[in-house]
Amino acid sequence: MNYLHGFHAGNHADVLKHAGLMALLAYLKTKEKPLFVLDSHGGRGGYDLSGDQSQRSGEYRHGIARIIEASDAPAALQPYFAAVRADNPGGGLSRYPGSPLMIARALRPQDRLIACDLHSDEAAHLADVLRPYRKARVEARDGYGAVKALLPPPERRGLILIDPPFEKKTEFADLATALRAGWKRFPAGVYLVWYPLKDREAVSGLMRDIAEAGIADAVTYELFVRDPDAAPGMAGSGLLAINASFALDPAMAAIGPFLAERLAQGAGAFFKATRITGE
Ligand SMILES: C[S@@+](CC[C@H](N)C(=O)[O-])C[C@H]1O[C@@H](n2cnc3c(N)ncnc32)[C@H](O)[C@@H]1O
Repeated sequence: MNYLHGFHAGNHADVLKHAGLMALLAYLKTKEKPLFVLDSHGGRGGYDLSGDQSQRSGEYRHGIARIIEASDAPAALQPYFAAVRADNPGGGLSRYPGSPLMIARALRPQDRLIACDLHSDEAAHLADVLRPYRKARVEARDGYGAVKALLPPPERRGLILIDPPFEKKTEFADLATALRAGWKRFPAGVYLVWYPLKDREAVSGLMRDIAEAGIADAVTYELFVRDPDAAPGMAGSGLLAINASFALDPAMAAIGPFLAERLAQGAGAFFKATRITGE
């Protein structure tokens, strides 16, 4: 395993992902019915921003650290800010919660979370972090396998977060296969997928796959923190959301431009939302 999320915790990509996730969860909780959440690539659950990995990369300083104190932040960011503050009860910013911990804290008694990580160290740490949350369970397994095996959930209402490390060449293809299989089994599910904006061809291929699958409600929300044509490498990241536009279109219309302005790492930062259609 090469990928360690500790270097990236709280960076611009985490901000986009977790802001979208928490806005969506807040919306889904407005209905009383029980909700199932699957976090297929959960990570270790919590990160020490004063630790070696965060301090060496410094990535969170150009992410969450730039906005957490902003008095003019849009209301749609507040569920995300509340999740980060819950991890820093004494104030300041020394810890950053991973997605499963944010979700576990936000769930109601009638809801349920399964979080997976393929790597046993990460899964074991995550199990420790989630121990206080009775409605949360950790499985050390392949997240794509879980998407196929655990859907549809008996609750019939579900949010599926897919946040892979993208260290394998086949990741986009594996993701597309799992997403299509999951959606076929559970077409009413709400899916949120994070992806890097680095390899244009790979991103276009994923969107072609989604368009061909005939998924009616698929939208991408992309945050470029710099001009993608200025240099190779990761210029930002995106969220592909299925069956979530009712909640995320308005939330991201407020969040996206704010993040593009505050998290810019150079000229040419921008945010865009795109509806994926088969036409
Ligand atoms: C980007 S990190 C997840 C971060 C987490 N979702 C968050 O927001 O806090 C990706 C994680 O996926 C794990 N992973 C890699 N391949 C996997 C697979 N096939 N199934 C499940 N987890 C996997 C890695 O160990 C890593 O912890």
